[in-house]
Amino acid sequence: MEIVIKPNCEAMSHCAGDFVEAWLSRKPDLVLGLATGSTPLGLYRELARRHRDSGLSFARVTTFNLDEYIGLPADHPQSYHSFMRESLFRRLDLDPRRTHLPDGNAADIAAECAAYEAAIRAAGGIDLQVLGIGHDGHIGFNEPSSSLRSRTRIKTLTEQTIRANARFFGGADKVPHHAITVGVGTIFEAQCCLLLATGTEKAGAVAAAVEGPLTAMCPASALQFHEFCTLIVDEAAAVGLKRRDYYRYVYDGKPDWQQWEKTGA
Ligand code: PGA
Repeated sequence: MEIVIKPNCEAMSHCAGDFVEAWLSRKPDLVLGLATGSTPLGLYRELARRHRDSGLSFARVTTFNLDEYIGLPADHPQSYHSFMRESLFRRLDLDPRRTHLPDGNAADIAAECAAYEAAIRAAGGIDLQVLGIGHDGHIGFNEPSSSLRSRTRIKTLTEQTIRANARFFGGADKVPHHAITVGVGTIFEAQCCLLLATGTEKAGAVAAAVEGPLTAMCPASALQFHEFCTLIVDEAAAVGLKRRDYYRYVYDGKPDWQQWEKTGA
């Protein structure tokens, strides 16, 4: 794991923008895995700004989101379809036919999950997967105890996740209890994972994911096993990391040729 600690959320988002841009300049037909929630919003603003001001193009990019609530109409303001349209898709030159989210209203959820996996495979697999992390260490909606080899399927949200998302719905009673999420195993097959975290409330989950044991009780800890995983976190989210001085030392001492921020590699 590469661990990058930035002073605040804005710097974290800028750095994540550099990371995605480096991938995009190397592979204009990038298959990009996207996440929802408040964490990637700064990154999405960065990408929109770079598209607007510098002409960074997403015209050949294919996207796959991690998850979608079950039972919310796609045009519901809190559906992840709406979230992605508002926070990113309408601000870029993406081809709408190449943006994908699971259909939480599919009549046959199991068939929808299988079709989603097949679509990812048909696109050649995810190159770069952007991830947030839940307070309980979930990635996507893979709550604790999710199989570390799980595939796209229906999951029941934990009470903690429902409480955390209540702020978007105006009350916990309005948050759907189920979602379709890609699995930990699906995420694991991305060529590269980029996990973002900000704020002290994520410090425990970040510490468990990076320095804790590999366990299904913290699904993000599976990333320890991934060949190419970068975490970009702000100082507040890094406070629980025992070896944070070491991670800074490693990152600051990287030779130029190894720094994706400088080389775009
Ligand atoms: P958040 O959610 O970015 O809104 O904190 C992250 C997650 O639950 O994965």
